[in-house]
Amino acid sequence: MPSPALPLSSNASSPSVTRTGRAIDRGHALEWYTRNRARTTALFDVLAPGTLYAQPISQRHPIVFYVGHLPGFSLNTLVKRGLGRPGIDERLERLFARGIDPDDGGHDASAFAWPDEATVSAFVREADARVLDALATADLDQPGHPLMDRSEAVYAILEHEAMHQETLLYMWHRLPHDAKRAPAGYGVRTTPGTTPQGDVQVPGGVARLGESRDAMAFGWDNERPAFDVDVPAFRIQRLNVTNGDFLAFVEAGGYEDARWWTAEDRAWLQAEGQAHPIFWERRGSAWYWRGMFECLPLPLAWPVYVSQAEAMAYARWTGRRLPTEGEFQRAAYGSPDESRRSYPWGDAAPTASHGVFDFSSWEPEPVGTHPEGQSAWGVHDLVGNGWEWTSSVFAGFPGFRAIPSYPEYSADFFDEAHRVLKGASPATARDLLRPSFRNWFRPRYPYVYATFRTVESQA
Ligand code: AVJ
Ligand code: FE
Repeated sequence: MPSPALPLSSNASSPSVTRTGRAIDRGHALEWYTRNRARTTALFDVLAPGTLYAQPISQRHPIVFYVGHLPGFSLNTLVKRGLGRPGIDERLERLFARGIDPDDGGHDASAFAWPDEATVSAFVREADARVLDALATADLDQPGHPLMDRSEAVYAILEHEAMHQETLLYMWHRLPHDAKRAPAGYGVRTTPGTTPQGDVQVPGGVARLGESRDAMAFGWDNERPAFDVDVPAFRIQRLNVTNGDFLAFVEAGGYEDARWWTAEDRAWLQAEGQAHPIFWERRGSAWYWRGMFECLPLPLAWPVYVSQAEAMAYARWTGRRLPTEGEFQRAAYGSPDESRRSYPWGDAAPTASHGVFDFSSWEPEPVGTHPEGQSAWGVHDLVGNGWEWTSSVFAGFPGFRAIPSYPEYSADFFDEAHRVLKGASPATARDLLRPSFRNWFRPRYPYVYATFRTVESQA
């Protein structure tokens, strides 16, 4: 089997974020922005010509929106709002300002007249030049300025682009294979690991969900302020639920059994005609994984990628439940001596040996094959190889204040309709790996690289 190419992985020797809550180093900002733009370009280069106006996921804008949105958001947020410098084209800046929530309804793409490719690339080139000029010349640390204090808007645009690279990839996953070209050296790993599944006991104690502004170089508003919760003792699966595990649920008729689903879930399954994870495909009696560039015989040792609704149905079928955000956090970052870790494996900077993240693979890898990344309790793959669904409703922590560089970023989603995911996926940049980072989607949003594990309370 070919080993995975690492075409999009970042250079491990480039500087990493310092966790001191101070201004960003200009050189670091320029390096990160350039690295982001190069990776975004590499991701668009995977697409076959003529794919730009495709809309692989109905709840999201067509691909062309993202071409303009990434530098457009950076221009709006840093250059115009942060630094008060002039814009380029008011109409395009507004058009590319905002994505939309992956809600239940479809999105009417015809309501937008998307500009042609030449118009978009001219805008992108100019926006890029202005952002780079700002990073190179502007005062990036203006104490007391709502957007520029401790370079907040700089971090916001850099993390925003990194997050959307994951959006792009999970959109690309839905495109037909003839709309994409595999890069040289592309490959997957399917050889199972040797770590056995089983429960790990975690004693009751405190978990820190939110972090204080001063303890982080940057954190989004939903991560702040510091917030600790008490977590009663629980048992959690050492490994993620795999395609093989989930296949047993599918073949036992799990999708047809009303006991495991809510009424809303059932209506959704029916409307979508869905009877298995959307990353799977059935041909006769054989199952396949619908990968980025090819269909593979279903790799049974890979973590299953499903919506939260499907994860909950599976958990109910096994008589268990999903972890709360507090349980995930304690399993990942807690330790028997009650100290907190920066990563599940300790405080060492993330490398490819710790897990599957930072674009090291186009697909997941078999569970339990990165033992160096296990947590203090011996739980594997908590960061990387797929976001992990929790049962927790996405909401602000006590004392929440919207971030001035992007006030709608989180607050628009405090609607009881989104659930928290923790960890990271193969398409999560290493810059986003910190204990307080939170992701969120609706429970029936099936497109993301999201897996799960089950827990039970300790009697
Ligand atoms: C944090 C991943 C849920 O993609 O909807 C990007 C990130 N917000 N632009 C999303 C985001 C605005 C957001 N997630
Ligand atoms: Fe965005």
